[in-house]
Amino acid sequence: MADVPVIGIVMGSKSDWEQMSAAAEILTEFQIPHEARVLSAHRTPDETHAYARDAATRGIKVLIAGAGGAAHLAGVLASKTLLPIVAVPIQTAALGGMDSLLATVQMPRGVPVATMAIGKAGAANAALFAIEILALQRADLGEQLAQWRASRARELLQQKLP
Ligand code: RP5
Repeated sequence: MADVPVIGIVMGSKSDWEQMSAAAEILTEFQIPHEARVLSAHRTPDETHAYARDAATRGIKVLIAGAGGAAHLAGVLASKTLLPIVAVPIQTAALGGMDSLLATVQMPRGVPVATMAIGKAGAANAALFAIEILALQRADLGEQLAQWRASRARELLQQKLP
């Protein structure tokens, strides 16, 4: 039987995958069982509510939500679950992602989401942030994170300028 997913990656459209796949790549690298779904706050509100409501009982520990434009997906998920929600504002053609960022980050007091940077960097950081949450209960993951950071630092120090 496949491992039960502990992270759910949700995005408002298949068109978001080009950026949100950066989150899945990190989770795969850390061998974290995860799932990815397309669900929209506006186009499929009932299914989005149901997904958020049932996620914790299915074993999900953290939700990562990416959406663009009038980006309400993370907030809508947060309205239906107490799981931590890590939000990724998708970079958009019209407004560069400032629309997504402002729509995502300005949550009302009492219903928080943790908003990352716009675009692919934010998606990768969302996965790392989710792993940091899991690592609070898993020392092995903390050790993996420390090694991953050390590798990135070594790579940077070896960079050669033209
Ligand atoms: C949002 O609308 C999605 O998250 C996506 O970023 C944006 C555009 O969606 P598509 O028109 O490409 O499906 O809900």
